[in-house]
Parts: sequence; C-alpha cells; structure tokens
Amino acid sequence: MLKIGVLASGRGSNFQAIIDEIEKGTLPAKIEILIVDNPKAYAIERAKKHGIPYVFINPKEFSTKEEFYEKIRDELLERGVELVILAGFMRIVKKPLLEAFPNRIMNIHPALLPSFPGLHGQKQAVDYGVRISGCTVHFVDEGIDSGPIIIQAAVPVHPDDTEETLSERILKLEHKIFPEAIRLFAEGRLEVIGRKVKIKNYELPDVFFTNPKIR
Ligand code: GRF
Repeated sequence: MLKIGVLASGRGSNFQAIIDEIEKGTLPAKIEILIVDNPKAYAIERAKKHGIPYVFINPKEFSTKEEFYEKIRDELLERGVELVILAGFMRIVKKPLLEAFPNRIMNIHPALLPSFPGLHGQKQAVDYGVRISGCTVHFVDEGIDSGPIIIQAAVPVHPDDTEETLSERILKLEHKIFPEAIRLFAEGRLEVIGRKVKIKNYELPDVFFTNPKIR
C-alpha cells in the first residue's frame, strides 16, 4: 500500500476524489496525513469524516519559508510517507521538501501546462481566448507549475464561458486524472527521464477527452 501525505489549503475536492477512490478499492494507497496551512480549510472536515489524521502547520510561526517546509518534511517522514500530493496547496514548495521527496511530489494545475501556470489558470484561459483548456498532473520542481508532466485532460472552452463555468468543467476531470496519476505511481509505472515522464504499458482512457458538445 502506497503511503501518501496530502497538503491542502482550501476546499479539498481533489482530496475528496482521492479518498473516494481509495475507499472504493480502486486506488492502492493509504492517506497517512493531511497537512493544511490554513485552519479554516474545508479539507479538514473531509479528513475528520474519513478518519484521516490531520495537522495544521501555521506558516506564521516560522521565521523563514525553509523552516516551514522543514516542519512539513519532518511530519511526512515521521509517518513514512512515500508520495506527497498537493491538492490545492496554494504555496510554492521550497528546497527542504523538494530534496526530501525528489520526483515524489505531485500537483494538479487547472490548465494545459505549459500554458497558464500560476494562479487562476482557468481565468487566464478564458481571457486569452483559447478554444481548448484542461488540467495537468505533474511532478513538482522548484519552478511554478514547471515540473515533468504525468497526465493531462482536455476540455473545450466555449465562447460564453466564464471563469466559473470553465472551472467547473475542468474540475470534473481533475477528479479523474489526479487519482489516476497516483495509481500509476503506486503501480510503479512512472519513470522520470529528464523532463519527461514515461508511463509503462499505458493507453490513455477516453475519459481524458470530453466530447466537445458536453457543457
Ligand atoms: C483546483 O482547481 C486545482 O487544480 C488547483 O487548486 C484547486 C483546488 O481545488 N491546484 P480543491 O481544493 O481540490 O477543491
């Protein structure tokens, strides 16, 4: 069973999608800990409901970002975590955590990287006028949404879309590809070669491309 640690800052719907897959028996992993940087994160309620241990680590209690990440690293290592999941964790990960988990931290971003990194990927896509957007699961490196790409899913962008309507369409696929990427990791099927991720014996399921008529 792959031991995972989840970092979140807010709503935690991706955290929930991962919990659901584990509880269904379709994801061979165990969530050892949820770490939040925000005591009001709704993700905490989800952890409580599903009997998952959680801890709030207050970034304000540390004089440097490095010390904050050292504390997070120690919490994860103490619990034997093998893979770290950033599920809506709204911070840039720093060296102490990156070095402890090389190519073992995954993030989900609500755009087709390398387009629209950073905050509000969905709004950036709407404002730019692209016809297709989507979401990306990638390994985390020291940059902003710049690490090796694991899987992506595409959705159409309609002329009348707003940030909200596009976000909702993308989120449905986020909830599919994030657990899928973790499953591939758990099965030992991901190999990072330079900036590319090789997936062993893999065929992309149809679900990663929504029908353009779907709204
Ligand atoms: C998602 O849109 C994800 O792509 C981005 O932050 C949001 C988190 O949502 N990284 P939730 O907290 O998982 O509901």
